[in-house]
Amino acid sequence: DASTRDLLLSRIRDVADHPKPGIVFKDITPLLADPKAFTALTDALADLCGAYGATKVVGLEARGFILAAPVAVRAGLGFIPVRKAGKLPGATLSQSYELEYGTAEMEVHAEDLGEGDRVIVIDDVLATGGTAEASVELVRRAGAEVVGVAVLLELGFLDGRARLEPVLRGAPLEALLTF
Ligand code: PRP
Ligand code: MG
Repeated sequence: DASTRDLLLSRIRDVADHPKPGIVFKDITPLLADPKAFTALTDALADLCGAYGATKVVGLEARGFILAAPVAVRAGLGFIPVRKAGKLPGATLSQSYELEYGTAEMEVHAEDLGEGDRVIVIDDVLATGGTAEASVELVRRAGAEVVGVAVLLELGFLDGRARLEPVLRGAPLEALLTF
């Protein structure tokens, strides 16, 4: 609701010229440090798990982990990490995605997801949508269904939504705050 959004918004700090000149970085660490705000965020995302009928929570390394793990606990669901390449010890599926310069790769343990799983993907920020898109592909390749993607912040001017929505095939993309 509006009061939750105001609380969350009040705990996001703009940092000018980070990571490079001209960029205003949206820093969520004040929100994480405030138990009332972090709890409100966790509750809002856990409510979405219920609304979507999710059975698993996928969090995206690294900042997505911070949000998604408490949501999984609150919602009573399993937490599945999507990690940057080379970190997971078991049999993985990998998906490459574009960065501003070059490409990166994310992985998931193939055995953690499968048919019948209804997955909500959680991350802190939707920017160009590349990270979220790659994670959706990974979840599907593992045999599971993506029932929604939820982020704290959407950077609307980067058009990630326009990129992601066609990939989602009708599954919702929810941003608690949009800039
Ligand atoms: C950031 C952010 C999102 C992603 C969004 O992660 O946490 O995961 O970028 O960008 P996109 O929509 O253009 O893909 P990043 O990989 O920078 O670092 P992190 O490990 O701190 O999460
Ligand atoms: Mg990230």
